[in-house]
Amino acid sequence: MSAQPPAPRAVLDGIPAYVPKPPQPPAAGTSYRLFLNENPCPPLPSALATISWAASRTNLYPGIFPDQLTDALARKLDVPHAHVVTGPGSVGIYQQIGQAMLSPGDEVVYAWPSFEAFPIVVRMAGAVPVEVPLTGETHDLDAMAAALTPRTTMVLLCEPNNPTGTAVGAAELKRFLDRVPSHVLVVLDEAYFEFYRGPDRPDGVDLHRDRPNLVVLRTFSKAYGLAGLRVGYGVAHPRIAEAMRKCAVPCGVSRIAEQAALAALNAEDELLEQVGRIIAERERLREALGRQGWSVPSSETNFLWMPLGDDSDRVAAALEQRGLLVRTFSGTGLRITVGSPEANDLLISTLADLRSGR
Ligand SMILES: Cc1ncc(COP(=O)(O)O)c(C=O)c1O
Repeated sequence: MSAQPPAPRAVLDGIPAYVPKPPQPPAAGTSYRLFLNENPCPPLPSALATISWAASRTNLYPGIFPDQLTDALARKLDVPHAHVVTGPGSVGIYQQIGQAMLSPGDEVVYAWPSFEAFPIVVRMAGAVPVEVPLTGETHDLDAMAAALTPRTTMVLLCEPNNPTGTAVGAAELKRFLDRVPSHVLVVLDEAYFEFYRGPDRPDGVDLHRDRPNLVVLRTFSKAYGLAGLRVGYGVAHPRIAEAMRKCAVPCGVSRIAEQAALAALNAEDELLEQVGRIIAERERLREALGRQGWSVPSSETNFLWMPLGDDSDRVAAALEQRGLLVRTFSGTGLRITVGSPEANDLLISTLADLRSGR
């Protein structure tokens, strides 16, 4: 049969594949996943217990929306229920935002490199990406403000930034938000909020209270260690939140994900202690690599950025050989998740060997 299938929408031709090919573990020996910014700790026993209870009910649909979780988040964040939108990970919520708020031809301003989902969400809606290069490893907020035009309808901002781990801080962020016209929606992605311990950490939920054009996104995938269950949330003005809810996949957050997220919220002290240990490991790694002579910018996340330029592929291949699977941005740098102490020790010794040509 030579007939062609019907053509998908032409805008999809311009969409890069979202998932880069994962690094390949060596044929033998242990390997460490340091390429997706996952939490190296397994779920807490309380989360596992509730997951197995919820698993016994998978013959039943979950609610259209996870109302129990939405209530718990509204209480924790001290916002009305109507401001909270949940979804299958924050990437699911990005799709809801794109569908709800973007029209073909709209311009969307974001920094680059930043979260890899940005160009996909924008192009999927037929909107036009306007990418503003980072200055060094940080957002150039002046250049981003200068990139706004009458056609701009949205700004995407990852604070702290993925993949560089850097943050702009509350004062600069507020100055930028004040320069964005109120008809332009700003999506502030705080996926790494809990790992951000700098003194000037912005709190997007607080900022949204008197900024109806600000949507904040957070996730249970990183600090809460539930990446495999796909649950994230947004906080927004109720008009925006309602539009986002209209674009959600019904029952898109499973009962297992909802119950595990509730258990994680109930065990928050324990989880934040775990986050403290990851931050201590992050600082230990950064200091060790700095002593070896590698340039590693300070990070407010659970990963480090090594701006290696043309050397990125060579170093990534050497790490991969020892089972350290990192995310390579060819020609630019490596993004390396802070792993278990064992993985971090191996990373330190492997990079030391590379430095000394061993
Ligand atoms: C900035 C940022 N936002 C969102 C996500 C994805 O989060 P989720 O697992 O909630 O879809 C990631 C994952 O790496 C991320 O780095």
